[in-house]
Amino acid sequence: MKGLILAGGTGSRIRPFSLYTAKQLLPVLNKPVLFHNIDLLLAGGIVDIGIVVGPMKDFVVEAINNSVYSELANIHFIEQPEPKGLAHAVSASQVFLADDDFVMILGDNLFTVDTLDLLYVFENSFTEALVALVQVEEPKRYGIANMENYHIISVEEKPKVPQSNWAIAGLYIFKSTIHEVIRNLKPSHRNEYEITDAIQQVIEKKQTVTPYFLKGYWRDIGTLNDLFDINIDLLQDINLEGTYFEALFSSFNLPVLIDKTAVIINSVIGPNVIIGPNTQIRNSQISNSIVLENTLADGVNLDNMILSPWGNREVSR
Ligand code: TTP
Repeated sequence: MKGLILAGGTGSRIRPFSLYTAKQLLPVLNKPVLFHNIDLLLAGGIVDIGIVVGPMKDFVVEAINNSVYSELANIHFIEQPEPKGLAHAVSASQVFLADDDFVMILGDNLFTVDTLDLLYVFENSFTEALVALVQVEEPKRYGIANMENYHIISVEEKPKVPQSNWAIAGLYIFKSTIHEVIRNLKPSHRNEYEITDAIQQVIEKKQTVTPYFLKGYWRDIGTLNDLFDINIDLLQDINLEGTYFEALFSSFNLPVLIDKTAVIINSVIGPNVIIGPNTQIRNSQISNSIVLENTLADGVNLDNMILSPWGNREVSR
């Protein structure tokens, strides 16, 4: 079994940050979302990992090379010349994937999932593909699986009139037979090669596509509001005991998560604040906000903000 993480794309909805870094390197609880997804694969014993990269390739390569993952996994970077869709990213990866089954993850999605359980279900269901599903309130925004007696009978991308509220989360397992299907795929009306169309063709060939009902947390980071929401959601669940950082003349209203390299002087921080590595906060009052790596703040009074070295952006929950 191999792993494939899709970290290409344009990230147009999360500008301006995607002009300065890869969306998949933005942090969730002070760790790049890409690293969370590598952890997901490693938890299932998957060490051969392909990462599909686009124009922000250099940032992704540098982040991996400066991390433990360059030793924990065999990472292959796969260049996708143009972001022409999820199925196009798979075809760009065909040499790396060869004849192996593979877990595919959208690199800007975050899951809490039991990887061994996911692999167990795939291995024991004699299926061509497995797709992770979550019930959502706005099915029009997602790829949707139409179900009958808990079997997937069809899938469609962002339907105008959804017949189900089971969204396809960005986590799949495919057999190598998917490559043949993708080779014959036509671009969609938005001129992308859609993985949903490939899955629909598998279903039309009367082959099984198995649903995997996600029990844990799932969300994708499409926009800055999503980035903010994921961080604040997950901050509520972590145990903050024993965190250490440098602080002088400051007070903290929990929950806060502060990297050990942060320096905080004469400030009031929290509630609901995450402060990243190599940051300095002085003479400031910050609540309901996240502060990204390498940010300096002095004399500010901020609420509902993402602070970054590229400027601050207002967000709401
Ligand atoms: P999307 O969020 O659908 O696309 P995007 O990242 O280009 O963002 P936007 O819609 O704001 O412009 O992509 C989901 C994930 O898949 C994300 O991690 C990027 C990745 N991806 C690729 O690797 N190749 C592609 O061709 C596309 C479309 C996405």
